[in-house]
Amino acid sequence: MTRSPVAVTLKGIGYAFGEHRILNHIDLDIEPGSIVALLGPSGCGKSTLLKILAGLLEPQQGTLHFGERLIASAAKSTPPEQRDIGMVFQDYALWPHMTVAQNVAFPLLMRRVSAHERQQRVMQALQRVGLGDFAARKPSDLSGGQQQRVALARAIIAEPKILLFDEPLSNLDTDLRESLCLEMATLLRQLGTTAVYVTHDRREAEILADRIVWLAAGSVSAIQTVTSLSGEPA
Ligand SMILES: Nc1ncnc2c1ncn2[C@@H]1O[C@H](COP(=O)(O)OP(=O)(O)OP(=O)(O)O)[C@@H](O)[C@H]1O
Ligand SMILES: [Mg+2]
Repeated sequence: MTRSPVAVTLKGIGYAFGEHRILNHIDLDIEPGSIVALLGPSGCGKSTLLKILAGLLEPQQGTLHFGERLIASAAKSTPPEQRDIGMVFQDYALWPHMTVAQNVAFPLLMRRVSAHERQQRVMQALQRVGLGDFAARKPSDLSGGQQQRVALARAIIAEPKILLFDEPLSNLDTDLRESLCLEMATLLRQLGTTAVYVTHDRREAEILADRIVWLAAGSVSAIQTVTSLSGEPA
């Protein structure tokens, strides 16, 4: 990764759907290049918080900074495409009519990168996720694990400052989940990008993250620093 990683700072973030308060004064400092896992029971607000980081929802209270840059507050919100982020969702969210290469190239197309450079970078990204031979396939002709690798290649290709993951492995079966989790951990360490990783799975969080932030009923209930020992496979 050529670019220097960025800190993510949340101060007093609040969000409600109508009368239903989801996030309650969330304060969180994420160091540049570190990986934070967000863990907590279903419905506690993990995806809501990730959507606020991505710009898919706007905070109603508080502020969000990427480095020194104010990204969102109740008064202003930078649109997702101007946040320099990459995202991977549970359901892959690939475009079915595009080939693997076209899916992965999309963020570069948006940034007006030349066709020649796009082609080179797509091949590099696909090789990075072990899909060098799959460029011409359609997503429907891939397994779930392969589709998620495509989504991962698409998320990293533009070298975003921040990577956001919402339960990217939870649609895969156990063995695959474990091996892809270890591969992603290696890849994230190599990239050195600041990352926020939502999961239900504590073990996954311990393999991937530097710190685990536990959410409960819309608040941070605990923060755990992951030691290398707890991150080792059993
Ligand atoms: N568009 C919406 N309108 C109203 N309520 C919503 C909406 N989206 C989410 N919620 C509610 O907000 C709460 C938090 O949802 P969120 O998706 O953030 O939870 P989560 O922690 O990601 O859960 P899970 O682990 O099941 O994915 C839930 O009670 C959910 O029902
Ligand atoms: Mg969720």
